[in-house]
Amino acid sequence: MKTPPFKTIGVVGSGVMGRGIVQLFAQAGATVRVFDNQAEAVDAALTNLADTFSKLAEKGRLSAQAAQDTMARILPALQVSELADCELVIEAIVERLDVKRELFAQLEAVLSDQAVLASNTSSLSITAIAARCKHPERIAGFHFFNPVPLMKIVEVIGGPRTGADVLERLCQAARQAGHTAVLATDAPGFIVNHAGRGFGTEALKILGEGVADTLTIDRIMREQVRLGGNGFRLGPFELLDLTGLDVSHPVMESIYRQFYEEPRFRPSAIAAQRSAAGLIGRKVGEGFYRYVDGKALQADEPTASTLTAMPTVWVAPGPAAAELASLVEALGAHLESGPEPSAQALIVLSPLGLDATTACRHWDARRAVAIDTLFPFGYKACQRRTLMSTPATLSETRATAQALFSADGARVAMIRDSAGFVSQRIVALIVAIGCEIAQNRIASPQDIDAAVRLGLGYPLGPLSMGDEIGPAKVVEILRGLHAVSGDPRYRPSLWLQRRAQLGLSLLQDD
Ligand code: NAI
Repeated sequence: MKTPPFKTIGVVGSGVMGRGIVQLFAQAGATVRVFDNQAEAVDAALTNLADTFSKLAEKGRLSAQAAQDTMARILPALQVSELADCELVIEAIVERLDVKRELFAQLEAVLSDQAVLASNTSSLSITAIAARCKHPERIAGFHFFNPVPLMKIVEVIGGPRTGADVLERLCQAARQAGHTAVLATDAPGFIVNHAGRGFGTEALKILGEGVADTLTIDRIMREQVRLGGNGFRLGPFELLDLTGLDVSHPVMESIYRQFYEEPRFRPSAIAAQRSAAGLIGRKVGEGFYRYVDGKALQADEPTASTLTAMPTVWVAPGPAAAELASLVEALGAHLESGPEPSAQALIVLSPLGLDATTACRHWDARRAVAIDTLFPFGYKACQRRTLMSTPATLSETRATAQALFSADGARVAMIRDSAGFVSQRIVALIVAIGCEIAQNRIASPQDIDAAVRLGLGYPLGPLSMGDEIGPAKVVEILRGLHAVSGDPRYRPSLWLQRRAQLGLSLLQDD
């Protein structure tokens, strides 16, 4: 085993995160001293770790000897002064600036001037913690994710005074422990909690506009969206329920305030109200879903009706028109080829970033539906399609379209009018925010993508998402959304616009 960059590491706070951090570095070969102001919390952590190592040994992931040696490297500390020989101390205590500042002052009083002090804070400013320290150059953020040994990513965060050597050593220590280290400058939410704002926030906005219910939105994001061949593992409401609104709503509010009310991060009144009602998620048995034995109750989707007669379909002009026409024919409908729809035709639109109402301005909205063509939608080529109607669309038009577009076995989500459907809105906002993080030099494009993939489990990082869709298409979606809604949250980021205009990858730095 290589010598770790820090041979003796102190961990303060032996709760959920502290324990994981202790495990990670002890397994990587460091001696780890653990302090908590509740002595029983240290005892509980040691018992828990001993149990973890023996389980790993039972499963053959660790030899019995290694388990014993690793445990022997973990040493309880009864007071802060017992951390004096640590070369690095990682703080994972309560999330309060005053308490963390007080602890850092105590640590500076006992540690050598060369020791590095890192905070695992997820929402406080590293700069604000460092501001009260005698040596702010050795203070950094070291933001792990829960559970630490399994979430193989850590954000290494530097404030304006943090030394580059300190950041480099933290990155090395993380890499040696098997984690990917991403570098971020101190900014609200760092990378992951900043980039993660698009998914839930936009989904809540879509829900708030009455476009679709939670289950439909979740199904679209899991089953219709395909990025790098995969959808999102959890829909936005399943994820909010897992995290708990008690955690995620305050994060949404805090990021919004810290970015001076940036409209992209505007929190949702629905989340505020549901939090107040105690409907915070899985841990209390009810959030956006109700849980029985830990499983969400989700209604089965009704099977689509079959058509007695195949409709006549006219496909409106647009970039996806040819592929859409092939699909309509493959599904067995009669395709009209004239420049205008006949009086009987079902009118099918395929807007990008626009709503069905705007896309249908030249034709009879009563007979029109729109289909989302951003992700694969061809014959037997997708699990799910999304259809959207205008407020004027007749119910029989909707029923016919739903039956037609499920004729090859695909499931069909039927939503109300929404500029950008569900998938275009959420994905374009994720890309826009990712681009802004790159534009604001908070992290490199590669680190942004790695942090989001590993920290949030998205199928691709935001910049690769934009590249796969095509930066110009993402700009078109955002411009459409912006034009229809008038909401500045959808304005395309400069990073995105420039790369789209120049035909460059969104991962291209300059
Ligand atoms: P926790 O509540 O499980 O553990 C905190 C521990 O710190 C407790 O054992 C408590 O006794 C101890 N403590 C509190 N004040 C102390 C002090 N002044 N001196 C020494 N020990 C003290 O909390 P958790 O979830 O482990 O969070 C710790 C930190 O990690 C927070 O800053 C949190 O924002 C951050 N974090 C939490 C994540 C999570 O998913 N839980 C993810 C990433 C970061």
